Amino acid sequence: MKACSMKDSYSVLAQVVLPMQANTAGNVHGGEIMKLMDNAAGVAAQKHARTNCVTARVEELNFKRPIHVGEIVSCKSQVIYAGRSSMEVFVTVESEDAINDRKQIALTAFFTMVAVDKHGKPCAVPPLTYDADNAYESKLYSEGEKRYLARNKRKS
Ligand SMILES: CC(C)(COP(=O)(O)OP(=O)(O)OC[C@H]1O[C@@H](n2cnc3c(N)ncnc32)[C@H](O)[C@@H]1OP(=O)(O)O)[C@@H](O)C(=O)NCCC(=O)NCCS
Repeated sequence: MKACSMKDSYSVLAQVVLPMQANTAGNVHGGEIMKLMDNAAGVAAQKHARTNCVTARVEELNFKRPIHVGEIVSCKSQVIYAGRSSMEVFVTVESEDAINDRKQIALTAFFTMVAVDKHGKPCAVPPLTYDADNAYESKLYSEGEKRYLARNKRKS
């Protein structure tokens, strides 16, 4: 199986927050953003695995800043670690006040996505490569690997 790089799976889903996605104070509901993040994680995982992928786990979901009606939400995702059939996808949500040209990171999370075959059974994914000279990619990969190994240790 041909290896894929971290950059190969990089994806961005963007949308404007509508009033029906928010509470009466204009703050977007957390579940609305989580759905977008799940979608973005699925897109990155499918780009890497080239097969159907399901969500198995979400870790370290951090709501750092509120998002308001009218802001642009950009959900960025990329596979940062690959096991045999599972992939860890880092998802970052940036909210943008386009009128005042202000951007901030509103949420981040790590999704474990599992590649499945047509019977819904886990199947192998391509190896993941990263740029060892890029400190950001190296850190994401080694932390992803640590979480993967720790999960396996807990399981056994
Ligand atoms: C995810 C799923 C396919 C795993 O199937 P399984 O038969 O338990 O698979 P295995 O135990 O052989 O594990 C397969 C891989 O998934 C990983 N995995 C399974 N459950 C996991 C979990 N809860 N968290 C993290 N990784 C998990 C394993 O570590 C393994 O990784 P590896 O192949 O890279 O080493 C299965 O549990 C499933 O279909 N779950 C429902 C998924 C779904 O419908 N999600 C939508 C949200 S409701």
